[in-house]
Amino acid sequence: KHPVLVAPSLLAANFLELGKEVDMVNRSEADWFHLDVMDGRFVPNISYGLPVIAQIKQKANKPCDVHLMIEEPEKYAADFKKAGADILTVHYEACIHLHRNIQQIKGLGMKAGVALNPHTPIELLENVIRDIDVVLVMSVNPGFGGQTFIEQTYHKIRQLRKLITDHHAHALIEVDGGIGPENAGQLIQAGANVLVAGSAVFSAADPEKMIHLLKTSAQ
Ligand code: DX5
Ligand code: ZN
Repeated sequence: KHPVLVAPSLLAANFLELGKEVDMVNRSEADWFHLDVMDGRFVPNISYGLPVIAQIKQKANKPCDVHLMIEEPEKYAADFKKAGADILTVHYEACIHLHRNIQQIKGLGMKAGVALNPHTPIELLENVIRDIDVVLVMSVNPGFGGQTFIEQTYHKIRQLRKLITDHHAHALIEVDGGIGPENAGQLIQAGANVLVAGSAVFSAADPEKMIHLLKTSAQ
């Protein structure tokens, strides 16, 4: 059995109490901070950016997993490294020179992730799968928290698990969108390693307990 990593998405946090939310994640069994950056171009929403991430980084005692939902991510990779990103994930659909962008991120000393929109086939990663540290499978259309989980995701995770095995690759499979205790176990069973959860964690009566529940969802 592989370990389950949990990455709470701060998009659903209370920004007026951001320090307390960061403390909660620090105290919890969560593994990464998932930080969603949206530019209003690649996705139809705008979230937060570099200064917010830099401040979260000062308090965070776990790796910062930055999910860039932006066009031309290569223009900002160095800035996100400076702000404190440990893992930097770019969208397949936003990268004309994906291989180059992956090398750039790793050259800056970060782990490199590639995210796939729900309609983007797994096979398109065949030629870079050995170069990347994380594949982020979107289980909703990126842009908003609180959306309904897309069931086709299970099939994509199984395909991706096979691609990784066949290529002797080491990439972690991260899933993002509409995740909660009702589907976490099945996602891990399909082959996922990292569960991102926004509203499930931050709307819970007891967020730390919810993180524990997700973390132990494979048992
Ligand atoms: C969506 C973001 C997600 C989002 C998940 O575009 O990438 O990380 O915060 O939120 P929930 O868990 O509420 O679907
Ligand atoms: Zn995300």
